[in-house]
Amino acid sequence: MGRTEPERNSIAAELQSWPPDLTDQKLYLEFCITLDAVPQQLAHLVAAVPAMVSEWSSRSSHRNSDCPVDSRHLGAQLKARLLNELQSDLRIDGALYNCDNITFLDTIQNSLKGKVRLFYIDPPYNTGNTHYSYKDNFERSEWLSMMENVVSRVVPLLTTDGSICLSIDDSEMPYLRMLLDRIVGEKYFVACVAYERSGSAGLGQGSVILNTKEYILIYSLDKRKLNDVGYERPINREVMKRYRKVLVDEGQRRLIKEIETQTDFPARLFEHDGFQIRSISLKDFEQRRSEIDSQYIDSFDKIFRTQNVQKESSFQSSIIAGLSKETLYSLEYVPQRGKYKDSQKTLYYFNRELCAWLKDSSSVRDGTIIKRNKLTDFWSHAEIPKADLANEGGVLFSRSKKPEHLLYRLLALTTESGDLVIDLFAGSGTTAAVAHKMSRRWLAVERGDYFLDCPVSRLKNVVGGDPTGVSKLSGWRGGGAFAYYHPMGSSEPG
Ligand SMILES: C[S@@+](CC[C@H](N)C(=O)[O-])C[C@H]1O[C@@H](n2cnc3c(N)ncnc32)[C@H](O)[C@@H]1O
Repeated sequence: MGRTEPERNSIAAELQSWPPDLTDQKLYLEFCITLDAVPQQLAHLVAAVPAMVSEWSSRSSHRNSDCPVDSRHLGAQLKARLLNELQSDLRIDGALYNCDNITFLDTIQNSLKGKVRLFYIDPPYNTGNTHYSYKDNFERSEWLSMMENVVSRVVPLLTTDGSICLSIDDSEMPYLRMLLDRIVGEKYFVACVAYERSGSAGLGQGSVILNTKEYILIYSLDKRKLNDVGYERPINREVMKRYRKVLVDEGQRRLIKEIETQTDFPARLFEHDGFQIRSISLKDFEQRRSEIDSQYIDSFDKIFRTQNVQKESSFQSSIIAGLSKETLYSLEYVPQRGKYKDSQKTLYYFNRELCAWLKDSSSVRDGTIIKRNKLTDFWSHAEIPKADLANEGGVLFSRSKKPEHLLYRLLALTTESGDLVIDLFAGSGTTAAVAHKMSRRWLAVERGDYFLDCPVSRLKNVVGGDPTGVSKLSGWRGGGAFAYYHPMGSSEPG
């Protein structure tokens, strides 16, 4: 679902049209914008509020213009003036709610029906652990009925191409999977990703088999709308070992056969005379690394490897059967299916195998060859950076904080810019932070009493230009605005 631009000329109007208002649930509305969005006539008043000044001085990373202005610090009068006088095309990117997620879901049931592109659900895993900042020891039946209550309310809110991603570990995965198959529908199951949350180093060595993974269950109402995101990495020696041949010169081609196809165009097979293929040497790899890298860059368009054709492709197999080794062939044809349907395509064969080109799965960026790999259902420790996890977002959330790169991948897979993403177990606010950085609209619910210190504080950091997590990847430099709803009692007059 793309964002539909509401009619608005003030932040008050924006807050009325979106996001959902929970003030009648005994919650108190606050909002956070950047200082440069505050009207000039109020900026000096805002900048003089002691609580605001002390908050800014404790946050080092902000550019002046991006200083987050939290309405909670302003006092009733200044807050009301800001709401009235903030004439702007400012949009509210999302909202945080300090309440139980069932209360939230029941409130939005009508207004957001069919409008949510992604629910990310990261519940207490029911590990029995009593050291977390939230309850994580339930009777299984109690835990399952909590999940049933959540999931059954979530499904009607999805867009027709909406998705649900759920994190879980071994404690409850099989039971949750069955519950989801029943409530969401087995036919919408996409994958049960094994996500390697840590390497084995540093884990207690007490068990024979160390537990380093958890799962992400992914369901989507329209699998065709999922994005083929893959993951990218600079090419390394392993990739180079596979891609070492360079087609220096393809020589003169000579038509040797025309093959009937089911289209109007016959496939045309050519044999190449006078072609030249060489191999890039990887000898003394470390010492010659920069020379080897230059050769890869210089020959980038012409580097290939050969691979067996899929046995089930009888068309390919019949072509290969008639070829001789040591000779280069090419085949011009018009595919009937797939990405290149109805456009002319040329395949090359060498050594009685199909040639796969490095350029088809890579690109050159800043002088480095970056290879795209297909996503599998095993997401390794190396693929999802988490070395700086404790510092991500500038807030502490012991043990349960998800890496921003994990959420980046899930959002890239299931959503587009402007889509609405909801996290019902927000914790430290990772989903909201990543959604904000990726230009998605977002809503996140957290009932913990660390609501102000953790997710709210994190989103203020994001608005203020948080440099951690996926900021570099998403080109994030700060900005935007969000609302938050919390119980009256915790309001601090300025
Ligand atoms: C595993 S943590 C989520 C961590 C989060 N994904 C992150 O990256 O920081 C689960 C969170 O769900 C919250 N929670 C549990 N039950 C809830 C409920 N019924 N309503 C709202 N929040 C709830 C807990 O307080 C806890 O903070």
